[in-house]
Amino acid sequence: MNGKSDIPDALREFTDRLRLGLKGCTSALSMVQFLRPMFSELSLNTALFRDILRSIEGGGPYPDISYPTMFDSEVILFNDPERFFTVRLFIWGPGQYDPVHDHSSWGVIGPVSGDLDVVNYERVDDGKKAGHAVLRETGRMTISPGENYYVLPLHGGIHKTGNPSGETIVQVSIYGRPTVKRDFINGYDPDQNRVFPIYAPKTKKKILAADALRHFDRT
Ligand SMILES: [Fe+2]
Repeated sequence: MNGKSDIPDALREFTDRLRLGLKGCTSALSMVQFLRPMFSELSLNTALFRDILRSIEGGGPYPDISYPTMFDSEVILFNDPERFFTVRLFIWGPGQYDPVHDHSSWGVIGPVSGDLDVVNYERVDDGKKAGHAVLRETGRMTISPGENYYVLPLHGGIHKTGNPSGETIVQVSIYGRPTVKRDFINGYDPDQNRVFPIYAPKTKKKILAADALRHFDRT
């Protein structure tokens, strides 16, 4: 991550207030409830996000697009030094959706430009059969800049999001501290009743290297 001085003042001021507020919260839901009313102060700051996009386009030092992320559409904008939360930018190409997935933490999510599709699910199987999961769709919505929605950790936040339009759109997300220690999130295929781990690219390379080494050792 870049030095403190690289973080735009508006984002710095917002995250300072957010940290103070989150410190007074005692549960994931109460953190979400604190953040949601102030979220649009950030997501509607188009001047801030225009500057960030220009910096990415021009190869500027902030934000650091080489910082590891789970999805290639994702850029870390801020890592709270006390680990209360992270702020992330997602840039969705036309018609791009992520796979159905869960989260390791709470999160509040909203579009900066364009509308964002959200499909929510609940898991209804008992989780005892490896690789097997049955999901039930619980709702879908399309949200616009100024609006936000939230996820809770693990089964409390299984969803799919994406861009229904023909334009590239921008989303900002704030995620809390993970409640579980794991180096993956769960991906789901609701049509095939399948659950599978999704690893960040760096972790995936390590796992593939370990698998390849096992093959080396057998030959
Ligand atoms: Fe998500």
